[in-house]
Amino acid sequence: MQRISVALLMLPAAVLAQPPAPGAPPPVPVFSGDTIKPFTPADNPITDAKAKLGDMIFDEKRVSADNSVACNTCHSPRNGFTTHTATSRGVSDQIGKRNAPSILNTVFYKTLFWDGRAASLEEQATLPILNPIEMGQKDPKDVVAKLSAIPQFVEAFQQVFGHPVNWEDIGKALAAFERSRLSTEAPFDRFLHGDEKALSASQQRGWALFTGKARCGSCHSYDPALPIFGDNRFHNVGPTVRKPDFNQMAKRAADTLATGNQAEIDKLALETEYSDLGRFLVTKKREDIGAFKTPFLRDVLLTGPYMHDGSLETLWDVVEFFNKGGEQNPFLDSGMKPLELTESEVDDLVNFLSALTSDRFAEQRAAELDRQHAAYLYRLALQRQNQKGSQ
Ligand code: HEC
Ligand code: HEC
Repeated sequence: MQRISVALLMLPAAVLAQPPAPGAPPPVPVFSGDTIKPFTPADNPITDAKAKLGDMIFDEKRVSADNSVACNTCHSPRNGFTTHTATSRGVSDQIGKRNAPSILNTVFYKTLFWDGRAASLEEQATLPILNPIEMGQKDPKDVVAKLSAIPQFVEAFQQVFGHPVNWEDIGKALAAFERSRLSTEAPFDRFLHGDEKALSASQQRGWALFTGKARCGSCHSYDPALPIFGDNRFHNVGPTVRKPDFNQMAKRAADTLATGNQAEIDKLALETEYSDLGRFLVTKKREDIGAFKTPFLRDVLLTGPYMHDGSLETLWDVVEFFNKGGEQNPFLDSGMKPLELTESEVDDLVNFLSALTSDRFAEQRAAELDRQHAAYLYRLALQRQNQKGSQ
């Protein structure tokens, strides 16, 4: 079988529509075919044809029970493979409890989902199809039968796997597609490669704060060999503990949720108030209450709103959230402390985060940063006005 070409890795189909700006600096390779090799299981090598089939399934609404929802409905390539809603809407207008993360760079996650309940992309890929509020299919057999009635799928499965459509291979093709979706070079990478002008003075100060005073790097760790800014671990930083019943719910949970298979955990995570318990749903360990996977920060400017529940609208909200030390609760990560960042240091950090956006989204970058800043300042002004009004 033909191995995947690096051209596909560096130029995902979704972005070919955006040619680099004239006079743009030459691309700096960030992740190459070689980078992802160790993260690709031996029994599911990536080929161009397999990744293409995965892409076809990813974009296909007929995979859902009522032909209304595809993977890309919630993971839209135009928005860095997310949607700009706090949580997502699946079949029959059902709203889930969690924010849809990007599928870019998911090849580098050791576990999938905010709580890590899936151990591989293959395992993850078929769960949304059967989830009642996402794609709503009841039985893998129905999905296989449906795709088997569409000639282009029959043909592609035959070509890639040498046999008719089957359930396991739907997962394998989707996983191969996802492994091939990588962030490309960003201003930060050009800066690291010696182009000092690639980052503004504010962004450079933000980078220093990120690894220094602001302590972001203690969880979003920086590894020069794999600069994705994550530790593949779970932390309680507390975005949802503001909900008044969090502590009581956490106490109740230990008794009521002692068991659970993967489908049950999927239901708890996406459909019930227990969603905010995070990693605890998987491990049932007290210390994992409210802990979620540290998300990678590549292209993060494009993937708002933020956090597992989409509760923070802009990057300014996120940095201010960490600035106050997260939200106090009995399970708060011991690494969370008030940071005492000044207003301009907060701006520097946000500007730095925006420099992790792939150059292929360069046009969106400035507009999205402006949009977020305006939304943040508007909300602050509104709060002040309301406070004045109530005095
Ligand atoms: C209705 C919206 C919706 C649809 C449809 C959907 N997803 Fe998701 N996806 C989500 C949400 C929400 C999460 C986070 C859930 C969680 O962590 O509990 C998620 C998580 C993921 C993740 C994990 C990312 C990470 O950082 O761990 C991957 C990969 C993924 N989806 C791929 C897919 C694929 C493949 C399909 C189609 C078969 C699909 N999704 C369909 C909303 C959706
Ligand atoms: C103790 C570990 C830890 C530290 C320190 C930390 N983070 Fe995070 N970060 C997380 C976790 C865990 C989440 C997800 C939390 C959740 O959804 O409940 C997160 C979420 C985020 C998000 C949202 C990403 C998304 O896709 O929704 C951004 C942006 C972010 N962090 C940036 C920062 C910055 C900037 C700093 C430093 C000021 C920082 N983080 C410090 C662990 C940490």
